[in-house]
Amino acid sequence: MAIVESPPHATKRIPRTLLRRFISPRTLQNVRYRWWSLSSDLPRSVSSHFTARSPQVRGFGAVNGSSSLAAELQKVNMVEPTRMCRVMTKYGSDKGRLHRYTTIYSALFKERYGQALRILELGLGTNNPDVPSNMGLFGAPGASLRGWRELFPKALIYGADVDRRILFSEDRIKTFHCDQLDGSSIRSLWSQPDLQDGVDILIEDGLHTFEGNISFLEGSIGHVRPGGIYITEDIMWNDVESWYSRIADIYVRQYPKLEFAFVALVDGENRASNNMLVIRRGVE
Ligand SMILES: C[S@@+](CC[C@H](N)C(=O)[O-])C[C@H]1O[C@@H](n2cnc3c(N)ncnc32)[C@H](O)[C@@H]1O
Repeated sequence: MAIVESPPHATKRIPRTLLRRFISPRTLQNVRYRWWSLSSDLPRSVSSHFTARSPQVRGFGAVNGSSSLAAELQKVNMVEPTRMCRVMTKYGSDKGRLHRYTTIYSALFKERYGQALRILELGLGTNNPDVPSNMGLFGAPGASLRGWRELFPKALIYGADVDRRILFSEDRIKTFHCDQLDGSSIRSLWSQPDLQDGVDILIEDGLHTFEGNISFLEGSIGHVRPGGIYITEDIMWNDVESWYSRIADIYVRQYPKLEFAFVALVDGENRASNNMLVIRRGVE
């Protein structure tokens, strides 16, 4: 995501409604998608026939004595764009355009598109500039949730965000309030009747701080079903060493049924934070 930090009350100074009256977010999104298709997607499609580039992956933990998650992700060709990159970009998420997480996801989820999964993403993508980690004035809240819905036609899609103004419900999509810095708010999210069976895919794309990541991970990992995947997106380079220690010294022992792969995507445009943690729960 494009981290756009704004001071509180910034909304008062920006004539948002005026700006939006002249430039519709949808028009801007269409123009941006077409430009990305020509300038990035097409050239990558061509060059992926001749070039391959792997992500940097470091694995931790093991299930049944052998760790395969890191080895699987290491084989992904980051140059090759996928359908998921296009779908996410079409809806206005930056997972495919800026970060290229979708190239990894396409490999990770390739056997699961037709399944009746339960998918939850924290971070809807607010366009309210007074919220940290917002997507800017012309962001499209719910973009990635709509992307997941199109990519997984039998799945139920859930979302959560600290910004109550952008919560919504649509066919196969339901969203809830959650502040990932507040343990009781995370517990209240997981007490929702819809979430009692846990989830198969859980993506954390909320507040991109080490504290926020850890708080949500520790409060939510127990709700990932056997065989499920948990992802933390947009980990800052400054936090990488803290993550390595946390996983190696604590999580590997605390969660023996989980495999961890720390992935650095040096290809993405957003190089300050283009790291992700992928966690897979073994099938019991
Ligand atoms: C980068 S945006 C998510 C983008 C979206 N997933 C997409 O791909 O289009 C980050 C979101 O995190 C939310 N957020 C910020 N602080 C949060 C917190 N403490 N708890 C939960 N969500 C938070 C913001 O409101 C924002 O909607």
